[in-house]
Amino acid sequence: MPDVLQQVILDNIPDQAWLKDVESHYIQVNEAFMTACGLKAEDILGKTPRDVWPADWGGKYVDTDMEVVRTGLRKRYEEQRFSAAGEVRWFDTIKTPIFDAHGRVTGTAGISREITDRKRTEQELRDSRAQLRELSAYLQSVREEERTRIARELHDELGQMLTAIQLGLGALDSAVHTGSDAAMLKNGLVGLVTLVNNASQAVQRLATDLRPPILDGLGLGAALEWQTEAFVERTGIACELVLPPPIGELGGDVETAVFRIVQEALTNVARHAHATRTEVTLHLDEGRLVLRIVDNGNGMLLSEVSQRRRLGIVGMRERAYMLGGEFRIQSSPGHGTQIEVSLPLPDEEEKGAQPA
Ligand SMILES: Nc1ncnc2c1ncn2[C@@H]1O[C@H](COP(=O)(O)OP(=O)(O)OP(=O)(O)O)[C@@H](O)[C@H]1O
Ligand SMILES: [Mg+2]
Repeated sequence: MPDVLQQVILDNIPDQAWLKDVESHYIQVNEAFMTACGLKAEDILGKTPRDVWPADWGGKYVDTDMEVVRTGLRKRYEEQRFSAAGEVRWFDTIKTPIFDAHGRVTGTAGISREITDRKRTEQELRDSRAQLRELSAYLQSVREEERTRIARELHDELGQMLTAIQLGLGALDSAVHTGSDAAMLKNGLVGLVTLVNNASQAVQRLATDLRPPILDGLGLGAALEWQTEAFVERTGIACELVLPPPIGELGGDVETAVFRIVQEALTNVARHAHATRTEVTLHLDEGRLVLRIVDNGNGMLLSEVSQRRRLGIVGMRERAYMLGGEFRIQSSPGHGTQIEVSLPLPDEEEKGAQPA
């Protein structure tokens, strides 16, 4: 007959707790234990784990009991079980030998605590660290590529033009000294003006690539118009832009994030989607800024994409998370892709923040 005081103490423990004899028969179990296995005390007491739990776990529990009885040592381990709905649950289990006055093991006491939430958090932390590492390596390589491209453009394009301007000026100088006629001098000057114009356009193009001045000058709406028009011109894919009524200042960080997310999403449409139509919409919803980019392309299997080590989508998600926002992507083969980002609107003092 189980000790009543002992039962009260056991029931007071929120974790599953039990006492067994040396042959793994349950002598006493608490309420949390009965809830976990879905049986009443009379169906458990006198039975072994093989009768109470599914066969494979039951066998394992008897083995660990026997180990504790044989060695006389406490055993602590983490184990997985499946809930009735088939979800993995994790438990931290401790089994301790019970000794009599002569030091002989007379049974075992056990306690099992559910640690599924901790395990999940640990896994999320590991995943997010791995993603951050990948993202930072990616950013590093993007930065290097960008520098290489700028260096090449500076050298090949601007450098060539400046050399041509130098040569042209030299030629003009000697023409002046040798007393060439006015028409020849004018021709030389016209050529030089064209070269200077081209050089100045090249500088503008480079600067615009680095950070579109329109974003700082005319704001997000104008920058998105410029961006989507350039996309249509470059790809021939129709793009409808729907903007909210003027929202006022959003702050540099939010504007940059929206601009860069649209940039990556449209680049993906151009590279992967085989779409004929895209839609970029921005609207306000309960104090949040909601951005949606939809295409009618061939879509993708998201489960496959997440296994590939590509970082465009990860980068969009990180930008949204960094601003306390949310990122959702929906896609399936043949049904296009929809990206939705929702960002909290910044507080007054954050609006003046420097662009990222
Ligand atoms: N709009 C889209 N339509 C169809 N498939 C897409 C679309 N956007 C992304 N994908 C698929 O998802 C994959 C991952 O996209 P992601 O932007 O992360 O990487 P990427 O574009 O391949 O490379 P990068 O890291 O240079 O951006 C792509 O390789 C492509 O297969
Ligand atoms: Mg991409």
